[in-house]
Amino acid sequence: MKLTPPKFRELKQSGRKIVVLTAYDFPSAAILDACGVDAILVGDSLGNVVQGRQTTLPVTLDQIIYHAEMVARAASHALVIVDLPFPFCQLGPKAATKAAARILKETLADAVKIEGGANRAATIAAVVEAGIPVIGHCGLLPQDVHRLGGYVVQRDQERLLADVAAVESAGAFGVVLECVTADIATEATKKVGIPTIGIGAGPHCDGQVLVFHDLLGFSAEGDAKVPRYVKRYADLRQTIGDAVKQYAEEVQNGTFPNPR
Ligand code: KIV
Repeated sequence: MKLTPPKFRELKQSGRKIVVLTAYDFPSAAILDACGVDAILVGDSLGNVVQGRQTTLPVTLDQIIYHAEMVARAASHALVIVDLPFPFCQLGPKAATKAAARILKETLADAVKIEGGANRAATIAAVVEAGIPVIGHCGLLPQDVHRLGGYVVQRDQERLLADVAAVESAGAFGVVLECVTADIATEATKKVGIPTIGIGAGPHCDGQVLVFHDLLGFSAEGDAKVPRYVKRYADLRQTIGDAVKQYAEEVQNGTFPNPR
């Protein structure tokens, strides 16, 4: 059965930790779905890990829709959440609602993610009012990387707790907490009635999210650009490299294809 935003929200009360991963294409999403991942995020991290860019800012609405359509088609059980790319979280309620509606209409995804806290409450409320489920994103906001001066841990407890509360009051069914101290994440998790999904936010959130390529060690540069909080569960860069080298060797020495 498909996980819905209300059921996702109820997982907080059940006490079972919520498992979220990003995906950007059909086969990856199908594997995550078959593994029982609760939610798949079509993140604008697409810019970094698929497009090879320095930030998430260049990702366009058309691009995220292209990827989200493939992911949503592969997910029979997992909730599919799609990032509202820059600058649609920033342009105000009307532009955000229009972009979010395009995402739901053209991809059959279940929800959108909006970066920001109290400053985005009106935008989140407008999108929710349009019947589009929203998950918030507080703490380190990658779309604000230039203003923040880099990808740095966020430590302003008062502001972060106010942001998370504002996101909940605006009607979000969950909130991602990125790169905040474990103490702030613990406090936020106790204070709100919606699930907190941590990334670089310690172990006490209601769930965790990681970027697919980081988890699998699937990157062009090895570990150089992977955040310190990531645990790599596989080394696909090595595995793919070994397979490709073996294929090249066998083509060159005539052992592939097998002579009939
Ligand atoms: O874009 C993304 O993948 C995200 C996660 C890092 C939470 O926002």
